[in-house]
Amino acid sequence: MERPLAKIIGLGSCVPKKVVTNDDLAKFVDTSDEWIVSRTGIKERRVSEYSESTSDLAYPAAKEAIENAKISPEDIDLIIVATTSPDTLFPSTACILQDRLGAKKAAAFDVSAACSGFNFSLSVASNFIAAGTYKIILVVGADTLTKYLDWKDRTTCVLFGDGAGAAVLKASTDGSGIISNYIMSNGFERNALTMPGGGSRDPEERNGRFIKMDGKEVFKFAVKALEDTVIRSLSIAGLSPKDITLLIPHQANIRIIDHAIKKLVLPKESVYVNLERYGNTSAASIPLALTEAYKSGRLKKGDIVVLAGFGAGLTAGANVIKW
Ligand code: ACO
Repeated sequence: MERPLAKIIGLGSCVPKKVVTNDDLAKFVDTSDEWIVSRTGIKERRVSEYSESTSDLAYPAAKEAIENAKISPEDIDLIIVATTSPDTLFPSTACILQDRLGAKKAAAFDVSAACSGFNFSLSVASNFIAAGTYKIILVVGADTLTKYLDWKDRTTCVLFGDGAGAAVLKASTDGSGIISNYIMSNGFERNALTMPGGGSRDPEERNGRFIKMDGKEVFKFAVKALEDTVIRSLSIAGLSPKDITLLIPHQANIRIIDHAIKKLVLPKESVYVNLERYGNTSAASIPLALTEAYKSGRLKKGDIVVLAGFGAGLTAGANVIKW
């Protein structure tokens, strides 16, 4: 019997109301709009309120995706939330979301793969669907990393924003859905991007509860990882970069995206970019962009859509979707 594919039947997103422009940042960080735009492409980002948690963004995004999919929360078999800024270490943000949605029969867990989290979660979900274990899975990418920024570290604090994006996947046998995925990790380079405090290595957060990043190392890894994961995931599906209708890369830095699309020989029109408005929203960046692309009519039946990204770990992954 043919194994079912995981087809995206609903999408949704949510960002905090508060917009922080580069000029706003320059009032309290030693930086400028000119530096941030030329080095990253970012113009503004959304920043959550002190009281606004990751599940507060994940919930409206999930609700919108469920409504868009025309299903009820009770139909959901599994909820996966990709996040590295969970509401609490436990329970998982996925369990909090299950309760808020009233998804009574769902199993729920979080996936921790930083900015690669949505791609890792889609690969888990699509394999559960292919195995016949579950029929309807809600996958959410949500992060509020601005809560973990050292505002004195200007190379890092200007990069991030908050948000959430959600997709409802359903088992499909009509040939459309996720046709391949590829994920990889390189724990040997784990120190290039860390949040040292708050875990069991440092429960009292003596090393600070802030993101620490070696920007140059992450940049080098990201350019290569974006190119590699796109090529590898496509080759698993028997395709190559020339088959791509739309590439949705992780929205970290326009220079990383430009390097990768040059290597992949892709026209700019086939790459979706919205980082100028949101910055790097970590696990939310790809589903946020995918939802925007869908709402603006960019996705047509039969299109080959590739979602590809990289993040702390270091990790990287891609999913190829036949729309
Ligand atoms: N404003 C003004 N000047 C700045 C700023 C700033 N915000 N930040 C750094 N500078 C200065 C530096 O101090 C340095 O000055 P100097 O030459 O006098 O020493 C100069 O600008 C150049 O600094 P670099 O670090 O060399 O700048 P670079 O061009 O490498 O850009 C950046 C830094 C943007 C961080 C880049 O390395 C990058 O994008 N790296 C990848 C980061 C990334 O994508 N991280 C997310 C990973 S996803 C996840 O899982 C979270």
